[in-house]
Amino acid sequence: MQEFQVYPTYEHLSRAAADVVVSTLQGKPNAVICLPSGSTPVGMFRELILRHEQGLADFSQCTFVGLDEWIGMGPEDEGSGRQLLDRDFLHPIGFRPEQILFFDARAENLQAECERLNGAIEQLGGLDLIILGIGMNGHLGLNEPGTSFDTYAHVSELDPITIEVGQKYFQGPTPLTGGVTLGLRHMMEARRLVLMASGEAKAPVIARALKGEVTEAFPASLVQEHPDAWVLVDADAASAFL
Ligand code: PGA
Repeated sequence: MQEFQVYPTYEHLSRAAADVVVSTLQGKPNAVICLPSGSTPVGMFRELILRHEQGLADFSQCTFVGLDEWIGMGPEDEGSGRQLLDRDFLHPIGFRPEQILFFDARAENLQAECERLNGAIEQLGGLDLIILGIGMNGHLGLNEPGTSFDTYAHVSELDPITIEVGQKYFQGPTPLTGGVTLGLRHMMEARRLVLMASGEAKAPVIARALKGEVTEAFPASLVQEHPDAWVLVDADAASAFL
């Protein structure tokens, strides 16, 4: 691991994460960047949109890869990973469809869909940057506890904690039956990994990810092994660590 940074507020954290994205693009305008959906990156997206509007960030040549999706859901489904990413980032920056690589989680053959993503990422030369949140069970993407560090994109059986916490993205109770996700090996092989966390609820999982044993039972512990991982958190999320 390279960096552990604590920021006073979520806004500071969001700006710092946006800085990493922008500096990656300055070094490599056609970078391949994997983005999560969900609550944590919303502030970073807001900041990136602002910089784009001000002419300070150029997304015109890069490729975005979506991290994960709930099985059976697509862009029209309220609360799906793709819908959140479209709403929070891709539509505001006016992306071109060919710039995004995203799971079709409604595909009949999900295995083939995972292989499509694996092949496309390989063809692009791998991920230059992956931005991640952390789940309340230590998951990264939908790599649930017990997932081998050696997997690429795969179909994921959801942990009960993920099914429960995942309800926050939907307006009413929603059955979540599984997921498709980039694998932990994608994360290890990404040239740079940024793990973001905000809020007191995330404090215990951040402490365990950074100080606990490196184990497949707690996927986020993988950041300790990554040669260029930056863990960026706000003060609340750091409160069990310091
Ligand atoms: P969140 O999700 O950013 O919505 O908290 C993180 C995760 O479950 O990976």
